[in-house]
Amino acid sequence: MANPLAHIDIRTYANTCPRADALPAIQEGALTVRPVFQSADSSFGAEVSGIDWSNPIPADVVAQLVALQDRYAVLIFRQTGLDNARHIAFSQQLGEKLEINPFFYGRENDRLGEPLLFDVANIELDGSLVKLDSRRWHHSLGNALWHTDSTYHQQRSKYSILLSHGNPVHGGSWTHFADTRRAYADLPEEKKAQLEDLIVEHDLWHSRKLASPIVYGNPLPHELAAKPPAFHRLVQPAPDGRKTLYLAAHAKQIVGWSFEDSQKLIWELIDHCTQPQYVFSMEWLQGGDMVWWDNRQSMHRANPYTETMTARDVRRSTIIDDGPWAHGVRV
Ligand code: OGA
Ligand code: MN
Repeated sequence: MANPLAHIDIRTYANTCPRADALPAIQEGALTVRPVFQSADSSFGAEVSGIDWSNPIPADVVAQLVALQDRYAVLIFRQTGLDNARHIAFSQQLGEKLEINPFFYGRENDRLGEPLLFDVANIELDGSLVKLDSRRWHHSLGNALWHTDSTYHQQRSKYSILLSHGNPVHGGSWTHFADTRRAYADLPEEKKAQLEDLIVEHDLWHSRKLASPIVYGNPLPHELAAKPPAFHRLVQPAPDGRKTLYLAAHAKQIVGWSFEDSQKLIWELIDHCTQPQYVFSMEWLQGGDMVWWDNRQSMHRANPYTETMTARDVRRSTIIDDGPWAHGVRV
């Protein structure tokens, strides 16, 4: 079987955002779009500027951004200056419901104390950096595996919006993104036929265990109860109508297949999707930088925390899907 932990290392990929060799910027009304990947038949990732984040975003600009998002799957905004409340307010313009943080470590232990935001930072309640080998440290390792947020929910989430606060981070602050639409398109036809009808069981505790077998080999009963598995089709239409792979390190088993055969295929496909030609690394440059990705048509991963990394204060809102594929499959 392919080794999932081969994906957990600290690295950047050849393509980056910002790009060293910038492509021509595209003017879309008041917005300037700087694509990461752009070709006649496929685009992926773009930096967007020209938005006035100091006021609520007008409905026509939201519609314009959603159209860009359908096309690029990952939109990056620099120096937005947004705070928690406006981060949440913008997220609520993109869908009716946001995910509620289950406060795994207790609400009293949550640094943000804000149920609509997930604290993905390496910072403890008292401001110190997360301790090597703490349970929280090990929980974070799963984010360094290629994944899609909330595939383990039966009603999945469509968007995630990660916003940074505070000072620039020293020690390499990157998030990596993979284009699952183009990766799907490049598969051989017989492979596509094999995958077409497969249903996948997704389980948060599967990816935690892969990333941290010692600490998360046996999740605690309340953890298991909070996050039971969910079932979704592997091949799905993306918002722009092209087919994509709905895949993540949370993918545990293919319905009707053995665990071993399932993992072999799942990691073969994750390896396929995360080849350098489908991937870019986004660099976090300043507080206020924000990335909005579409979980229905991309995968992403973090670099794992390191002991030399300075405070990395990133906070995520997650927007629940209400589209035709939102509820997955009942098995
Ligand atoms: C997330 C996530 C990546 C990062 O918040 O869902 O995967 O770089 N974050 O922190
Ligand atoms: Mn994630």
